[in-house]
Amino acid sequence: MEIFRVTGGARLVGEVRVSGAKNSSLKLMAVALLAVGESTIHNVPNILDVTIMAQLLRRLGCTVEYSPETETVVIDVPETIEHRADYDLVRRMRASIAVLGPLIARTGAADVALPGGDNIGSRGLDMHIAGLERMGAIVTSEHGYLVVQAPSTGLVGTHVYLDFPSVGATETLLMAAVNAHGTTVIDNVAREPEIVDICSMLVAMGAQIEGIGSPMLTITGVDSLHPVEYTTVPDRIVAGTWAVAATMTQGDIVVRNARAEHLTLPLEKLSTAGAVIETLDDGIRITMDRRPHAVDVVTLPYPGFPTDLQPQFIAMNSIATGSALVTENLFEARFRFVQELSRLGAEVRTDGHHALVRGKSQLSGAPVESTDIRAGAGLVLAALVAEGESTVHGVEHIDRGYVGFESLLAQLGADIKRETLEDLG
Ligand code: EPU
Repeated sequence: MEIFRVTGGARLVGEVRVSGAKNSSLKLMAVALLAVGESTIHNVPNILDVTIMAQLLRRLGCTVEYSPETETVVIDVPETIEHRADYDLVRRMRASIAVLGPLIARTGAADVALPGGDNIGSRGLDMHIAGLERMGAIVTSEHGYLVVQAPSTGLVGTHVYLDFPSVGATETLLMAAVNAHGTTVIDNVAREPEIVDICSMLVAMGAQIEGIGSPMLTITGVDSLHPVEYTTVPDRIVAGTWAVAATMTQGDIVVRNARAEHLTLPLEKLSTAGAVIETLDDGIRITMDRRPHAVDVVTLPYPGFPTDLQPQFIAMNSIATGSALVTENLFEARFRFVQELSRLGAEVRTDGHHALVRGKSQLSGAPVESTDIRAGAGLVLAALVAEGESTVHGVEHIDRGYVGFESLLAQLGADIKRETLEDLG
């Protein structure tokens, strides 16, 4: 068990580089299953979830080599693959569900362990299931597994309307549709840059997809796809976290490899908070010279404000001038981290999916516990501006989304160290 020991007060100054998006890389690894042969994916971050996904693909029969130095994964997919994703891996990483679509497309069947809820609330699969059923699959739940069987002649193209632009359901149905008979229209799809990334890799593999980046995807099934070499889109959430870090610590950070166009709303909010945002050829620069103003935030599917930056913005609002209302529309339990933030002296009141944050001039260092990746990032940011020392527990959550977070923060001037609990005596 590891912790971060943080002493607040430093102004963060310098440069960081963002690697590939976790929420894209994991799905691109699943996309590789759709083509027999060797696919190579670059810009894949060195995080535990990538190791888990590699393990899952190996169990399905693939040979997977990941190089942390080059951040490249090579996946060799055999002619015949298994169709079962076991509980021991799915429970460790919900993103394992990304293999559902490719397994049905390749083998006509999938047995995928039900992931269950996690620390940010219940996360259903009803839209994945309804869409697959509309394409002709028989879906049952047996002994904790989702068991999907396509008709012997394969899935059939149809028109699916999602109740909500779910990232996961869009991915499952998209990947299931690329080899289906005829044309599948998926309406009200998620439009996150990570979805566009998946579509781009699929198109490079020979898939026929129209409407990429729009709310409606039209997929014309093809007989087979071919392996490719592909580079993951940069992580907009990590880039956004650095931007908040610069704003909160009244710092000056150049974030290389960040795409400002994927962060339009968060950067607009930081600018309202008082930060100066400069778009560079290969990134963004965020400069701040005073306490931020509190800013209201409403999370919504892309291009709305990302739920994955909500805790970081609550942390910023907690030391801002004024008050802000933060509304969470995606994951009901994401406000759980507010209780931890209040241990640092933050004044946040929640009511259902609203949080009212009253900015204070100073937070005060304390032990706190991360409950998920983004809550962890929010707590570290708060600890960086709190007076005195904080210990952030549950670092394993942060490590799932941020490669070398504490070393990069230390390079920017933060007083932060990783310690193992044994060190504490
Ligand atoms: N939902 C349903 N039924 C479904 C599908 C979704 O009710 O069939 C609900 C979920 O319960 C949830 C909401 O819809 O309340 C959003 O779910 P969505 O499918 O859009 O999200 P996801 O695929 O489970 C991905 C990211 C999350 C990110 C969300 C929203 C991955 C591995 N995860 O989750 O990332 O917050 O999209 O953008 O891509 C993170 O990185 O910290 C993280 C949680």
